[in-house]
Amino acid sequence: MRILCVCLGNICRSPMAEGAVRRAAAEAGLDWHVDSAGTGDWHIGSPPDPRGLAAAARRGYDNSDQRARQVDPADFTACDLILAMDASNHANLTRVAPQGTAEKVRMFDPDGRDVPDPYFGGPEGFDDVLDMIEAAARALVARHA
Ligand code: 4NP
Repeated sequence: MRILCVCLGNICRSPMAEGAVRRAAAEAGLDWHVDSAGTGDWHIGSPPDPRGLAAAARRGYDNSDQRARQVDPADFTACDLILAMDASNHANLTRVAPQGTAEKVRMFDPDGRDVPDPYFGGPEGFDDVLDMIEAAARALVARHA
């Protein structure tokens, strides 16, 4: 399985999601390729937000090598699932999906809830978001294992 986690900037939510899905898949013994990207282009080449790196590091993740990139049309053919962090990301992804690939776009949260954008809040928001992301990552792996 090739999984792409997508948010707006690829510096807050989707980098944490990438790490969480990779860990959940590895713990389940699954050989998944997990990546992340943003629908926007503002942060291309940037490392994850320091607040997100710190929240993830407290749970044993090292996301420091990640660099933001923008979703590319080739992602839609290369990946099996393209997982949107919120409904806005989902709408943007289905709009740019090449013909025949839009059904690969799903909500990251298995119940279809938005993973809230923590960018404009305080550092504690990243812990709440990571709680939600880890639960969704485990549910995703359980569903596809
Ligand atoms: P993300 O958060 O989509 O979770 O990476 C954001 C990061 C940056 C911006 C918005 C959301 N921004 O407006 O620059």
